[in-house]
Amino acid sequence: MPPGASPYEILADRYDALLGDRAFIRLRRSFERLVRRHGLVFRSAADVGCGTGTFVAHLRSRGAHPVWGVDRSPRMLAQALAKNRGNGARFLLQDLRVLRLPHPVALLTCQSDTLNYLLVPSELRTALRAFAHALEPGGHAVFDMIVGDGPHAGRVRRVGVARPGTPYEIHEQRAYTLDEVGAALVGSGLRLRGVHRVAEPRPEGGTVRLNFVARRP
Ligand SMILES: C[S@@+](CC[C@H](N)C(=O)[O-])C[C@H]1O[C@@H](n2cnc3c(N)ncnc32)[C@H](O)[C@@H]1O
Repeated sequence: MPPGASPYEILADRYDALLGDRAFIRLRRSFERLVRRHGLVFRSAADVGCGTGTFVAHLRSRGAHPVWGVDRSPRMLAQALAKNRGNGARFLLQDLRVLRLPHPVALLTCQSDTLNYLLVPSELRTALRAFAHALEPGGHAVFDMIVGDGPHAGRVRRVGVARPGTPYEIHEQRAYTLDEVGAALVGSGLRLRGVHRVAEPRPEGGTVRLNFVARRP
């Protein structure tokens, strides 16, 4: 990534075509499966690390209101705003580690490895606490993570996004162990309801992508 550029600032204009549109089809399928399996009911929602806002639009189309989209990248949020113009969705430029919604919501989603951008377990703990704080009592958090218990455990991986030769970014993500995720949930204010393996896309060898469903009691 060139000096001064932060992740997703270069990629924002091309994110949907490169990754986002395809990812959304999978995300919607696995999310709707979790909704049925866990009987999730929500009138309000927030999508954290919302990127270009495709999932925000989906939550609005399901009738949730308000729906907040939260991201730390101004250029990803600009795309999200354009995509959601006129549908009533609201957006916040925030880092998820210090997430502060104006009102608690019934559902919080955080998908496509967004939590793997947190490179140390203490930041994951902080984020999950912030998620619990952003939920109404009885509300649910649905998040996915790349998890590795083998040689990839705890490793920071560098991911090139888009092709070398065209403007592209190198992102750093960390594969957490299941124990680390469990430890981050302890004392977070969230109670785990389910962990489900995501079939596609397959992360690199030795890691799996998991969906977590947790509830604020
Ligand atoms: C892989 S993209 C996923 C976007 C969207 N959720 C999707 O599924 O298409 C990750 C997004 O998380 C955002 N992000 C990463 N770390 C963040 C943080 N600490 N706080 C807020 N947003 C963050 C990035 O700016 C980017 O838009």
